[in-house]
Amino acid sequence: NEKDSTVVVVLGASGDLAFKKTYPALFGLYKNSFLPPNISIVGYARSSIELADFRKRVSSRIKATDQEKSLLEEFLAKCTYVSGKYDDAESFKQLNTAVDKIQSTTLGRKHRVFYMALPPSVFIPASQGLKQHVYAHDGNNRLIVEKPFGKDSESSRELATRLAENWKEDEIYRIDHYLGKEMVKNLMILRFANVFFGAIWNRQYIHNVQITFKEPIGTEGRGGYFDEFGIIRDIMQNHLLQILTIVAMEKPVTLDAEDVRNEKVKVLRAIKPLTASDVLLAQYGRSKDGKEEGYLDDKGVPKDSVTPTYAAAAFYIKNERWDGVPFILKCGKALDQQKTEIRIQFQDVPGNIYPSVMRNELVVRVQPEEAVYMKFANKQPGLSSTAVTSELDLSYARRYKDVKIPDAYESLILDVLNGDKANFVRDDELEAAWKIFTPLLHEIEGKGGAIKPEIYAFGQRAPDGLDAFVAKHGFRRDASYAWSPPKI
Ligand code: BG6
Repeated sequence: NEKDSTVVVVLGASGDLAFKKTYPALFGLYKNSFLPPNISIVGYARSSIELADFRKRVSSRIKATDQEKSLLEEFLAKCTYVSGKYDDAESFKQLNTAVDKIQSTTLGRKHRVFYMALPPSVFIPASQGLKQHVYAHDGNNRLIVEKPFGKDSESSRELATRLAENWKEDEIYRIDHYLGKEMVKNLMILRFANVFFGAIWNRQYIHNVQITFKEPIGTEGRGGYFDEFGIIRDIMQNHLLQILTIVAMEKPVTLDAEDVRNEKVKVLRAIKPLTASDVLLAQYGRSKDGKEEGYLDDKGVPKDSVTPTYAAAAFYIKNERWDGVPFILKCGKALDQQKTEIRIQFQDVPGNIYPSVMRNELVVRVQPEEAVYMKFANKQPGLSSTAVTSELDLSYARRYKDVKIPDAYESLILDVLNGDKANFVRDDELEAAWKIFTPLLHEIEGKGGAIKPEIYAFGQRAPDGLDAFVAKHGFRRDASYAWSPPKI
C-alpha cells in the first residue's frame, strides 16, 4: 500500500558485514526503484558516530557512477544512525523513539524489518530487546538473522528455542546468502523446466556430483572468529549443503516457500551423517614463495590450532533417486583462485566403442564468470573419426551482455520486503543440516584428540590428498580438457 511506511533497522551497523554487504545491497535496490515508497534505514550499533561520519562510511563502500551520484545522495538522506547497547532496555527504547518519529506521519501501516548483522554473543539479548521495545504493533515485523546459527545440533537448538520465545517462525528470515546467488536461483529452472535434464537426473545416469568453493584469500584478520568455527561451519554446512539440497531434492508441488522447503528438508533427512572417514581436512601454511602467511600466523589464531581451512566430504543420500551416488563437497581458503561450481559427472557410456571418450559433465559455474556448460563428445572435425571432448557453453557474459547480475544480498533483501521465504532457511531445515554434521564435528574436535589436518601451501590448487580422495569416490578427472570463459 502506497500509504504504508517501512523502516529497516540494521543492527551491527558499524560492522564489516553492514558496510560491505547490507548498505550496498540496499542502495542497489534503491537505485533500481525496488525499495518500497516511504522507506527509511536506521543503523544501530554500540559506537557513537556522528551521522555525517556514518553516512560517509556508508558511501565509501558503495560504488556509484557519476549518473548515480544524486541517487546516492537521496539514499544517504534516508539513512540515520542511533547508537546503543544490545542488552539494555533504555537503548532499545531510544531506538524505538527514533523509529516512531520517522513513522509518525505515516497514514497507512508501519512495517519494520530488523537486520541482525551481529556477533552470536549478543544475538539473543538483541532479539529480546527488539521484541520488547521496538516491535511494530501496526504492521509487519521481519527479523533477518545471519549465521552462525549455533555450532552443533545442541547449541543450534538452544538458540532456536531462545529466539522462538520472542519471534514466530513466520517472522524469522535466516539468511544463507548463497541462496540469493543468480546461478543458485537458476538451479530449479534448469532442473524442473527442462525435460531432458529431468529425465536423466538420477542414479541411473549420474555417477557423482561435485560442489566446489574456492577462495584465493586467507582469513585476513578474521582468524579469531574463524578459528572457533572452521571451514565446515563457515561454508560447507550452510552454503554448499544448500546447493546440494537444491540439486538433489524432488520437484516441489508449487513454488510456494513451504512446498520448496518441505522438499529440501526431506532430502536432508535422507543424508547419512558424516564420519571422519568421509572427509579430508587440511589447513593452509605459508605460500611456496614465502610471501603469504600461513593460517597459524594470523594473530587471532592459537599457534597450535588444528582448525581446518579446507575440507572435502562425500555425502550419500539414501533414497530411490540417489542411492550410491556420491555428492562430494569441497571448500577451502587460500587456494589458487576464486571459483564456485557444481559439476554433475554422468555415467560411462554403456558398451562404449570409442576408447577416448570421457564422461559427460554438466557444469553450473556459480561464480565468477557465470555459465552453464555441458562437456560432451564430438567428432574431431576433419578427416579424423576420433571422439574429442567439446562443450555447449552458455556463458552469461556472452549471451546476456547487458544484464547486470544483482548481488545475492540485493535479491534476498528484496525477498524479505516482499515476504517471500522460499530462499531462506526454515528451522527444521537447519536442524536436519546440523544432524548431518554434528557427529563428525564432535569426532574431529573431540576430547579423544582432534584430527590433525594435512598442510597445504597458500595458493595451492588443492591439498595433496584431494585427487586421491575424489578418485576414491569415483570422480574421473579429464586432464586433457579445460573450459575457459569467453574473452569478451
Ligand atoms: C561467508 C563466509 O559466509 O561467505 C566467508 O563467512 C566467505 O568466509 C564468504 O568468504 C564467501 O562468500 P562469497 O559470496 O564471496 O562467495
